[in-house]
Amino acid sequence: MSILIIEAFYGGSHKQLVDLLQEELGDCVVYTLPAKKWHWRARTSALYFSQTIPISEHYRTLFASSVLNLTELAALRPDLGKLKKILYFHENQLIYPVKKCQERDFQYGYNQILSCLVADVVVFNSVFNMESFLTSMGKFMKLIPDHRPKDLESIIRPKCQVIYFPIRFPDVSREHDKDPESFFKVLMHLKDLGLNFHVSVLGETFTDVPDIFSEAKKALGSSVLHWGYLPSKDDYFQVLCMADVVISTAKHEFFGVAMLEAVYCGCYPLCPKDLVYPEIFPAEYLYSTPEQLSKRLQNFCKRPDIIRKHLYKGEIAPFSWAALHGKFRSLLTTEPREDL
Ligand SMILES: *[C@@H]1O[C@H](CO)[C@@H](O)[C@H](O)[C@H]1NC(C)=O
Repeated sequence: MSILIIEAFYGGSHKQLVDLLQEELGDCVVYTLPAKKWHWRARTSALYFSQTIPISEHYRTLFASSVLNLTELAALRPDLGKLKKILYFHENQLIYPVKKCQERDFQYGYNQILSCLVADVVVFNSVFNMESFLTSMGKFMKLIPDHRPKDLESIIRPKCQVIYFPIRFPDVSREHDKDPESFFKVLMHLKDLGLNFHVSVLGETFTDVPDIFSEAKKALGSSVLHWGYLPSKDDYFQVLCMADVVISTAKHEFFGVAMLEAVYCGCYPLCPKDLVYPEIFPAEYLYSTPEQLSKRLQNFCKRPDIIRKHLYKGEIAPFSWAALHGKFRSLLTTEPREDL
């Protein structure tokens, strides 16, 4: 019997998880679409997969990320609809920041809710992701003008659980750049103060690069150590291991693989006191305002010895594949009735 894994957005952390499950669990059959044009994937991948996945008696479990419109796939392919269907949320569309509230934005969140109704098990990568999704559903449904569905939270919540995104240390991560404006503003301020520091900016760029990147690169000048995506895992980890501090200025984050990888490599983390961060990092690593972040970095620049001697006070082990593989294994290999 095999596990059918469907990933409609095979890139970044979605790819990392699929590759890991396939390598570690064995007996997986994987169907993917490249991580491009998220909106089109969310809208059309179910039909595509319904036509490309051959009918087979061997599947027992279907594992898909929440980009897939599971309701459509289950309707188009009743044979797949009968499997134990597991939906994994790397992010949720109910609190995903959108520039303007448009009708189509309602549709993506709505599709995720409906996919949960169809799924047998719904897994989130953090408590923050799960709770923000479940508790936003009521308000979200109020956007419907009349004849609103009821009790969705109480129907969906019992199927939900958190299994942290499993990290195989060391491993490379790819993340969108998160609020580069604030990040660079703080660094350029340190530069103006004449403080001594080096910075490495290691992001994979999926789409357009914001202007602030080229401005900042120029302004930071000789303080720049590395700039740009490092395709080799070894090179990437080497840069992390040379660094003293890792900074997140994310405005949305449901997990944050890169931060944990950096901490694993010995970096002192500084993250917003918001989103998923308080769930993962002890209070001393959280800042509330850009001014607080700047103050802490100024002190670090003046006394780098303090953080170099610092021992990380949080835990990393619970986020490792070593700690989580048992949960994934039993999730993917038990029959529906055993764990419902
Ligand atoms: C996907 O699923 C929903 C259920 O939420 C359905 O109503 C919707 O039209 C589907 N398709 C697309 C293209 O969003």
